Amino acid sequence: MEYSKVIAIDGPSGSGKSTVARELAQVLDVLYIDTGAMFRALAFEADKRSVPFEWSGGLKEFIESIDLKYGTSSECLISINGDNLTQKIREHHVSKLASIISQIPEIREFLLDFQRNLAKSSVCVMEGRDIGTVVFPNAFCKFFVTASVEVRSQRRLEQLRESGDTSVSLEQIMKDVEKRDMSDMNREVAPLKQASDAELVDTGNMNINDVVSQLKEKAILKAKSVGIEL
Ligand code: DC
Repeated sequence: MEYSKVIAIDGPSGSGKSTVARELAQVLDVLYIDTGAMFRALAFEADKRSVPFEWSGGLKEFIESIDLKYGTSSECLISINGDNLTQKIREHHVSKLASIISQIPEIREFLLDFQRNLAKSSVCVMEGRDIGTVVFPNAFCKFFVTASVEVRSQRRLEQLRESGDTSVSLEQIMKDVEKRDMSDMNREVAPLKQASDAELVDTGNMNINDVVSQLKEKAILKAKSVGIEL
């Protein structure tokens, strides 16, 4: 079997997946690719331009007309037509829009090509919902990172409070998290699901640094066993 040089990290929002993926990429000194940021950027920009979230209702033209770029610096991970959206896409309302746009098959197809192209040349850590199942089913290393709804909601609340957003309560966040999980897990195209060969990682009562060190060791061993140089 020919393996892709991808460490696939999938899991629901708030599981710690993004922090783990970013830090793992950093300690391994490989490219970090956040695919959620791509759905968020498309949703944010389409909403800003009042493009209806329907492929034949304007989204097709929108996608054809924009220049989506994924960068390598944490200050500018994602931009559309030169406009750096890295911060703006983290606002609470964008999460819902991203979840809606991610259910449109043509949007997923567009981003599938985009994601495969990005990972062509070098080893990378790619995080998302369907990386180990759909985008890179032959990734050499796969993790499914998760935690309970309570833990994930509490983390999300802390993030929002840190950014000065006090508009949402824990109860509201828990409802949103459950609703988003349901729609991510039950959508027809590329639902959120653990790949059969992915290792389950529960970050609920683990320190993120410990998770990163564990995954680093596992990734190094896997890479060695399939002849991939890290
Ligand atoms: O990881 P995130 O919260 O930034 O993702 C935003 C939304 O995009 C989320 O609702 C799920 C969706 N998504 C997806 O469907 N597939 C991916 N590979 C990444 C994200």
